[in-house]
Amino acid sequence: MKRIVIFASGSGSNAENLIKFFLDSDHASVIQIFCNNPHAKVLDRAKRLGVSALSFNRVAFTKTDDVLDILKATEPDLIVLAGFLWKFPEHILKCFENKVINIHPALLPKYGGKGMYGMNVHNAIIQNNESETGITIHYVNENYDEGAIIFQVTCQVSKQDTAEDVAAKIHKLEMEYFPKVVEQLLNE
Ligand code: GRF
Repeated sequence: MKRIVIFASGSGSNAENLIKFFLDSDHASVIQIFCNNPHAKVLDRAKRLGVSALSFNRVAFTKTDDVLDILKATEPDLIVLAGFLWKFPEHILKCFENKVINIHPALLPKYGGKGMYGMNVHNAIIQNNESETGITIHYVNENYDEGAIIFQVTCQVSKQDTAEDVAAKIHKLEMEYFPKVVEQLLNE
C-alpha cells in the first residue's frame, strides 16, 4: 500500500475527497492529516472519516525537527498539500525530494505567489476579465507556487460569472481531477 499524507489549513474538502477516493483503493490510502490550525474544519472531517490528524504550530514546523520527525516516521510515498497556507520549509523538502505536491486554484504561473489563495485568486480572475481559468497540480519547491507543473485543466469564465461562480467551477475540477492525478503519480 502506498502511503499518502495530507497537509491542510482550512475547510479540507479536497482532503475529504482524497480520503474517500482512496478508501476503495487496494494500492494507496490517506494515512495522516497534518494541520496548522487547531480549529480547522479539516480536523472534523478527518475525525468523521477515521483518519488520524494532528495539528502543529509554526515553531514545530519551521524551527525544529518536530514535524519532520513525525513525517519521517509515517514514511509517506506522497505528501499532498491541499489548501495548506504556510510555506513548506526547506529542511523538510530536502528530505522528501519530488514527493511534495500542491494544488492551486488557477493556471500557474499566472495568479500564484504569496496572498494568492482562495477567493483572492477568483476575484483577480474576474477583475482582469479572464476568459479562462483552471487548476494546477505541481511539485512544491522553496518558493510559493513555482515548482514544476504536473497537470493543468482549464474551464471557461463567462462575462456573467461572479468570483463565486468561478470558485464553484474550480471546486468541481478539483474534485474530479486531484485524486486521479495523485493516483497516477503513485503508480509511476
Ligand atoms: C482549494 O481551492 C485548493 O486549490 C487551494 O485551497 C483550496 C482548499 O480548499 N490550494 P479545501 O480546504 O480543500 O476545501
